[in-house]
Amino acid sequence: MAEKTAINFKHLPVLFAETMQSLALKDGGIYVDGTLGGGGHTEGMLQRIAPTGVVIGIDQDDDALMSTGERLAVYGERFCPVKSNFAEITAVLDELNVAAVDGVLLDIGVSSYQLDTPERGFSYMNDGALDMRMDRRSGRTAADLLAELSAEELANIIYKYGEEKFSRRIARKIVEQRELQPITGTLQLAELVAEAIPAAARRQEKQHPAKRTFQALRIAVNDELGVLERGLAAGFAALKPGGRLAVITFHSLEDRIVKEYFAGLCKGCICPPEFPICVCGKTPQGKLVNRKPITAGTEELADNPRSRSAKLRVIEKL
Ligand SMILES: C[S@@+](CC[C@H](N)C(=O)[O-])C[C@H]1O[C@@H](n2cnc3c(N)ncnc32)[C@H](O)[C@@H]1O
Ligand SMILES: [Zn+2]
Repeated sequence: MAEKTAINFKHLPVLFAETMQSLALKDGGIYVDGTLGGGGHTEGMLQRIAPTGVVIGIDQDDDALMSTGERLAVYGERFCPVKSNFAEITAVLDELNVAAVDGVLLDIGVSSYQLDTPERGFSYMNDGALDMRMDRRSGRTAADLLAELSAEELANIIYKYGEEKFSRRIARKIVEQRELQPITGTLQLAELVAEAIPAAARRQEKQHPAKRTFQALRIAVNDELGVLERGLAAGFAALKPGGRLAVITFHSLEDRIVKEYFAGLCKGCICPPEFPICVCGKTPQGKLVNRKPITAGTEELADNPRSRSAKLRVIEKL
C-alpha cells in the first residue's frame, strides 16, 4: 500500500532549487508549505532546516495528505501535515499556537497525481467522471456546473478563466447537449468542446482544443483565483519581519494576481495617481526578492514539460 501510493505520487517538484534558495531557509525556522502535494518541496525544506526546523504542510486533498503524511513521517514532529485550504493559513497557525513564520510556499494548482488519476476528472486525455474538486468533501463538481449554469454563465467562466475565444459556441453546445443527455464524463466533454470549435481554428492548434475549457472549469469548481487572493494575504500576514512568501503559478491569470498583489505591498501608498501628494500614509510592507519572475532553466524544461509555464515570485516582509 505504502509503496503503491509512493509511486503514484512521484512528482518532480517544479523550480525546486530556485524555490529552496529563494526562501532563504534556515535551521530552526518554521515554514508553511500551503500546497503539500507529493511533498517534494516540503522534504527539500525539511532537509535544509535540520535539525530543528519545522514545516507545516497544508493540503485540501485527502489522498495527498495521507500518502505524503506517511512518506514524510520519518521527520517526526518536524513535519506537521494539516488538512485545510491555504486560504485558511491564519486559522491553521492559530490552532497550532504559532504566532508567525519564517516562510510560506504556495505551489498553486493541481498535482501530477490529481491530473493522472482519471477518476478525479481533471484530464481531457483519460475517461473519468467530471469531478475536478481538489477537496472532494465539499462544493459543486464540474458536472454540477455543466448541468446547472445558464449558457451565459458558462460562457463567462470559459472566457474569463480559460481565455477561450470560442466560449459562447462551447457554452451553446453544452446547453444543447445536456438537453439530450447529462454531461458527466471527461472525454464526453472534451469531444463536445472540440466539435464546438470551428474546424479551421482546430487545425491550427498545437494543444488539445479542450485544454482551456478544462482549465476554466477547474478554476471555477475550486474558486482558485479567489482562494489565491486570500492565500496571498494570509500568507504574507503570517510572516515575521524578514520572512519570505514564494509563489509558483502556472498560467497568466494567476501570475497577474501575484504580481499585482506583490507590487501593492512594495508600493505601500494606495492614493489615486492623480493626487499630487500621498494622503493615505501607507508605507511599503515588502520588497521583491527578484525583480522578474523566475522560470525553469533548459535542463528542467527538457526533463519536465509541466515546468514550461511555471513562474516563481518571491517577496520579503520588511
Ligand atoms: C502542484 S501540487 C504541489 C506539489 C508539491 N509542491 C510537491 O513538491 O509535491 C498542488 C497541491 O496543492 C493542493 N492545493 C491546491 N490548491 C490548494 C488550496 N487552496 N489549499 C490547499 N491545498 C491546495 C492540491 O491538492 C495539490 O495536492
Ligand atoms: Zn498614499
